[in-house]
Amino acid sequence: MLGGLRRSMLADCPIEQFQQWQEQAIAAGLKDPTAASLATVETNGSLWQRIVLLKGIESGGFVFYTNYQSNKGQALAVEPRASMLFPWNEIDRQVTVSGRVERVTPSHSDAYFGSRPRASQLGAWASQQSRPIASRSVLEQQYNEVLERFDGAVVPRPSDWGGFRLEPTTIEFWQGGEHRLHDRFRYQRDDDGRWQLERLQP
Ligand SMILES: Cc1cc2nc3c(=O)[nH]c(=O)nc-3n(C[C@H](O)[C@H](O)[C@H](O)COP(=O)(O)O)c2cc1C
Repeated sequence: MLGGLRRSMLADCPIEQFQQWQEQAIAAGLKDPTAASLATVETNGSLWQRIVLLKGIESGGFVFYTNYQSNKGQALAVEPRASMLFPWNEIDRQVTVSGRVERVTPSHSDAYFGSRPRASQLGAWASQQSRPIASRSVLEQQYNEVLERFDGAVVPRPSDWGGFRLEPTTIEFWQGGEHRLHDRFRYQRDDDGRWQLERLQP
């Protein structure tokens, strides 16, 4: 999808622009158009990243779900800032987002958890995400215990499982161009909360 990206093609609001590009990524048949690499500052000050799935854009923020006691959950409790990278390389695009992160409301998390397949709901109970475990069979044993515990019952949301919302202060759209003259546009919120847009050299 090499092609010139011009300022006149871009929406005033980067969220709107992101939604347009995401629709195009879906239409292009990308395998995981909602997958993003999420980078955080860990509790020991080092940097880490891992893939999460974008589950929606709500109140101008990028929402994903996870275990609040996982490494990323603990990291975000201490340092509530993150960056998400959507690597849409098959269509010569990437979008990078950075900003502050907060938890979504418990009722939001309840609603999303309730919509998940039962196996995923049980998995959330069976795994203490990011904690060491002795073997695969111990994990399977934990899953079987959860299966038995909730047999025939609705699976409630574990209190340590829920959503985060990244409210962006910077969003960059990158599109590959010919002769390595790629196009980059960066939106940044100014002190009055308005989006400022500038073109960057590739
Ligand atoms: C395609 C893909 C999608 C994933 N989606 C999620 C997700 O939405 N939430 C999540 O907690 N982990 C997700 N994971 C697993 C994470 O990448 C990661 O291994 C896990 O969250 C533990 O990360 P942490 O120890 O840094 O907290 C996904 C992994 C892949 C490969």
